[in-house]
Amino acid sequence: MKNKHAIAALGLVGALALAGCGGGGAGSAGGGSEGSGEKSDMLIGVSMPTETSERWIADGDAVQEGLEEAGYQVDLQYAGDDIPTQGQQIDQMITKGADLLIIAAIDGTALSSQLDAAAAANIPVISYDRLIRDSEHVDFYVTFDNYKVGVQQATSLLVGLGVLDADGKETGEKGPFNVELFAGSLDDNNAHFFWQGAIDTLQPYLDEGVLAVPSGQTDIEQAAILRWQQETAQKRMEDLLTSTYSGGTKLDGVLSPYDGLSRGIITALQGTGGFGASIADGLPIVTGQDAEIASVSLIDQGVQFASIFKDTRKLAEQSVVAAESMLEGDEPEANDTETYDNGVKIVPSYLLQSDIVYKENITSLLVDSGYWTQAEVDSGVAE
Ligand code: GAL
Repeated sequence: MKNKHAIAALGLVGALALAGCGGGGAGSAGGGSEGSGEKSDMLIGVSMPTETSERWIADGDAVQEGLEEAGYQVDLQYAGDDIPTQGQQIDQMITKGADLLIIAAIDGTALSSQLDAAAAANIPVISYDRLIRDSEHVDFYVTFDNYKVGVQQATSLLVGLGVLDADGKETGEKGPFNVELFAGSLDDNNAHFFWQGAIDTLQPYLDEGVLAVPSGQTDIEQAAILRWQQETAQKRMEDLLTSTYSGGTKLDGVLSPYDGLSRGIITALQGTGGFGASIADGLPIVTGQDAEIASVSLIDQGVQFASIFKDTRKLAEQSVVAAESMLEGDEPEANDTETYDNGVKIVPSYLLQSDIVYKENITSLLVDSGYWTQAEVDSGVAE
């Protein structure tokens, strides 16, 4: 997977590397390598949250390979989803003389002192996928249209229930359908965007009575899963089944904002032998995000209903393009300068688009684009 997911980044970045040859002034943008301006003397610190999710491994690999292909040195670190560890790793990158930092935060509000130190050393910071909050020293943000991801998640739930057809048009199906709602980690800015996009999409159907949430847990605080942990999602789903569905109430769908959570939810649902009535017609519709291979395989088997494909190759490529342009003393190209207020300022952003993955488009979206091979889809394991 490593090479495959990095490959898209290489062509473009390679071209940029050539175009950038001999361009001066790079050292002035950064910290440790001041003076030389040689890319090969420049160090870029890449801080990723965790290796427990395959998407972040793919992201880290793709960013590293893109940067190295462009001629930079790279210090790539994973923080094991531990906030102090991520802080220490970034501190060390600054001490080592990094010229630029690319950071996917664990807790978007916990890095202010690191960003102060980076700014003091004149090191630009790119926020990667997750917005770093409460600091003026976030120079650029590369991500997806996260509100739209939430809209897509809710849309896929409605399609699965038959309320919308595959083109997103209303079918006239009135339900009522029982659904439960999950959200991501509250310290991740994205979780709020996904939730808002989803709730705005579902609210009219909740208001009309097409959808109901029998547990009554409709606040993001009730639905949130700290650190996006699969086991925590499984536990919450088990608790919901016990509290609300053990009497035979049918559960029709679950809004899940991330494939890891979806797999925990599915495990809970599959373990409900005693509540057979609630899932007698098969598993409820379960949504997701990230097109992780284990979930793509479950979608192919008809177990999970949908996911959202965010092409991490393109995200990595954009981060490299932005880094390159900052190190050359230019403003990176933004396509959104309004949406991402981090509490201190609006951070100029480059937003990518995402797609809903259904069983029917696994081949066209994921296999034909080389994101996963058919063999990986069949086995559910990345090669
Ligand atoms: C979010 C990210 C999602 C998913 C989630 C859990 O910040 O945007 O794509 O990966 O974290 O890792």
